[in-house]
Amino acid sequence: MGVLGRVAWAWLVQLLLLQQHAGASHVVYDDLELQATAAAAEGVPHSIVDSQLRTGYHFQPPKNWINDPNAPMYYKGWYHLFYQYNPKGAVWGNIVWAHSVSRDLINWVALKPAIEPSIKGDKYGCWSGSATMMPDGTPVIMYTGVNRPDVNYQVQNVALPRNRSDPLLREWVKPGHNPVIVPEGGINATQFRDPTTAWRGADGHWRLLVGSLAGQSRGVAYVYRSKDFRRWTRVAQPLHSAATGMWECPDFYPVTADGRREGVDTTAVVVDASGGAAARVKYVLKNSLDLRRYDYYTVGTYDRKAERYVPDNADGDEHHLRYDYGNFYASKTFYDPAKRRRILWGWANESDTAADDVAKGWAGIQAIPRKVWLDPSGKQLLQWPIEEVERLRGKKPVILKDRVVKPGEHVEVTGLQTAQADVEVSFEVASLGAAERLDPAMAYDAQRLCSARGADARGGVGPFGLWVLASAGLEEKTAVFFRVFRAARAGGKPVVLMCTDPTKSSRNPNLYQPTFAGFVDTDITNGKISLRSLIDRSVIESFGAGGKACILSRVYPSLAIGKNAHLYVFNNGKAEIKVSQLTAWEMKKPLMNGA
Ligand code: FRU
Repeated sequence: MGVLGRVAWAWLVQLLLLQQHAGASHVVYDDLELQATAAAAEGVPHSIVDSQLRTGYHFQPPKNWINDPNAPMYYKGWYHLFYQYNPKGAVWGNIVWAHSVSRDLINWVALKPAIEPSIKGDKYGCWSGSATMMPDGTPVIMYTGVNRPDVNYQVQNVALPRNRSDPLLREWVKPGHNPVIVPEGGINATQFRDPTTAWRGADGHWRLLVGSLAGQSRGVAYVYRSKDFRRWTRVAQPLHSAATGMWECPDFYPVTADGRREGVDTTAVVVDASGGAAARVKYVLKNSLDLRRYDYYTVGTYDRKAERYVPDNADGDEHHLRYDYGNFYASKTFYDPAKRRRILWGWANESDTAADDVAKGWAGIQAIPRKVWLDPSGKQLLQWPIEEVERLRGKKPVILKDRVVKPGEHVEVTGLQTAQADVEVSFEVASLGAAERLDPAMAYDAQRLCSARGADARGGVGPFGLWVLASAGLEEKTAVFFRVFRAARAGGKPVVLMCTDPTKSSRNPNLYQPTFAGFVDTDITNGKISLRSLIDRSVIESFGAGGKACILSRVYPSLAIGKNAHLYVFNNGKAEIKVSQLTAWEMKKPLMNGA
């Protein structure tokens, strides 16, 4: 291929990247095999196909495309995870519900798909949905079926276990009365999907939400009500709506509001005679914004009488609290009765071209499940990797203690392989005196602030943090870091920004590598802040300040792979920082669906 051919190829790659990352991840590409072969022949860097970039302890099937986690649940001693899966390839299409089971949320065994197109109501796709436990302990799945190919016309169906005494719930049947909910009364039938777990009111009737789009731009969560889980009627007013575009995968659940970390079962909130919740709970409403491909949530109150949800913060819908400021979408929580906690599952798409996904034969992982609970401030959630992941830690961690990192200095953490590691650090900043002034124009835009002031831009207090998946000569590295700004108002708290900067993570030019950032609502006046990063070859999941801000980033180094991946602590600020303690463990590989 000559120069023109190369230009055409580069253009095609850009186009695919744009399509993939501008929200069109559910596009089926017809001639990708051909494109991938052409790429290989032209010598386009293809380290991505290196098997050493395949994640090891994150959930994934042996091959092919995956997206949303569906109907996570605990049943008779087993955790179940269903997920959107293309059995025929590494791009989105032919969607069925794949099914895996686990005793500990870490080691997974794949079963055969649980729900596949088989009835009129799901002939063209079995899309996302949720499980609800009936009072007798039987789980019922409600999911979106596509019943017309031309316009993706969407309806909601139920599926029941064939044999309730099978703890693995291997077979699911679809009763003849499907579909149970159809778009009526002016609802946009092509944007009507992803039913939530149902809950019951004081009247004993079930309620659930279906995500939708009203008019051109209003995201909506419609409430449907039923006495028997069979005949459903829509409540006139939606639970909530906002001018944010289509709401995919809504999730609505109670959290304890008394400082405990215990979860609450969606169906078990005690309702007193007046119809109010008797226990001290707040509610969380999460929506996956199709336009941005991120998961946003608010904390608020559920008014059971009016069947409305009211966010505590009146600007909440615009305020952009996110579960994760990185690559994390279409998530879903469930209540785990075995450990009385609420667990969050979320999908992390690739950040590479669809052509590369085809070449490597797989695309998509699930993030490490996280325990979620309400922060004592009541303003946001806290998230932390489930404790079971610690069983994968190798026996002998490497520990750094009281190590000062001077301005401009970096310190390598040696003595373990760090391509798959769990790293916990406590930092201490000696003085906040050098903190930079926060540009008021960026005070609400962490992402812009971080891309304008990346990891290599010298600052006052910070940037300091970790360089992970770094090559020996530092040609490649992903920075996970904090940067502290002076309080915007006199007497206010210093502003803490957390970023992941993957712009130097790889020499492969075909990747989508935006910086990701969020503000951390923490008080750093005592100089202390913590960071945890779970590194798994092509994913870095980071938790700032004990889970106040989280960032998942997909990266595909071409040098920093396998034994050639290094880990450093760095400080690019003017203020000295101290690593009070850093503990790093190598991570072992669990059973992962037979891969
Ligand atoms: C979110 C989503 C859902 C839909 C499913 C289809 O990623 O678009 O709204 O049900 O994926 O696979």
